[in-house]
Amino acid sequence: MKYPSLISFILAIAASALAACQATSTGFIRVTKVTPSYWRATLSSPPFNLLNSNFYLDFYALVDQLENDQEVKVVVFDSDVPDFWISRIDIANPAPAELSSEVWWGNVTRLSNLPLITVASIRGITRGAGVELASALDVRFGSREKAVFNQIEVGFGLTPSSGMALLPMLLGRSRALEVAIGADDVDADTAAVYGWINRAIPDDSFESFVDTFARRVAGWDHDVIAVTKKLINKNAGFPTMEQWREGYEAGQVSLTKPVLQSRLPAVIKAGLGSNITFEKNLSQETLKFTGDGPFQA
Ligand SMILES: *[C@@H]1O[C@H](CO)[C@@H](O)[C@H](O)[C@H]1NC(C)=O
Ligand SMILES: *[C@@H]1O[C@H](CO)[C@@H](O)[C@H](O)[C@H]1NC(C)=O
Ligand SMILES: *[C@@H]1O[C@H](CO)[C@@H](O)[C@H](O)[C@H]1NC(C)=O
Repeated sequence: MKYPSLISFILAIAASALAACQATSTGFIRVTKVTPSYWRATLSSPPFNLLNSNFYLDFYALVDQLENDQEVKVVVFDSDVPDFWISRIDIANPAPAELSSEVWWGNVTRLSNLPLITVASIRGITRGAGVELASALDVRFGSREKAVFNQIEVGFGLTPSSGMALLPMLLGRSRALEVAIGADDVDADTAAVYGWINRAIPDDSFESFVDTFARRVAGWDHDVIAVTKKLINKNAGFPTMEQWREGYEAGQVSLTKPVLQSRLPAVIKAGLGSNITFEKNLSQETLKFTGDGPFQA
């Protein structure tokens, strides 16, 4: 191979690598087309993958991309941040209402109705709004050793907005009450027994299990997938905008409560959003901030 043709060969490889992997506008979600039918949406905002404005912007752009693509049949949502899938909502820097209110659940609902399968591939901690997003995806797999699920809001003095619509649908009344009001970490084996996730998979075979599932789905007939999903959606149900709004409004009210306003600065000072050990152990750390205060900041 002559020198110029070697250079053009290298350039061609670089161009195809770029086409296969594109960052959405903020870089929070990295989209990789493993094949035209099998995409990965990798959550990539270290150190915590906090659900924030950048997440919302990338998520809405991704839903647009998926809706406009004719070939995609399966999307795996995974994370490349150690220890976390989506840790929780960024409560210290709230996203503006135009990104986080109706538009949020509207787009989650839009995603749930697309003619493709979404998979939450979870090998880390996912709490609060993160576990709500996972619960809204079509299929959830959790690493037996690494995945943690927690509807943590009540531990902060908040109400779990979208969780109040999704949890009872997936877990039933009693387990939804245990999980939402206990606000404690749940491992993948328990989450699977509860119906919160589809199944728990040993971490050393996790990636190959998810990849095999995605490749099977990517090989099937697109129309058959679309009609099957439509009928299952119709018969299983999904929280309506009205059910979601009731939870969202309760959440907004809880945000204004004085006890949260005095607790939050103390929790932030103690390590929320800055200290990895603290964030990993959040379900225990919240126990230091119970009652009416005053809280030591
Ligand atoms: C989805 O998000 C976009 C962009 O923010 C917004 O314009 C649109 O109304 C949302 N869709 C739904 C169904 O809520
Ligand atoms: C992080 O949090 C842990 C647990 O609360 C604490 O022991 C540790 O001192 C904190 N680290 C820093 C750098 O503040
Ligand atoms: C988690 O927090 C609890 C309560 O503050 C503490 O007793 C425990 O040692 C912490 N665990 C870790 C691993 O930091």
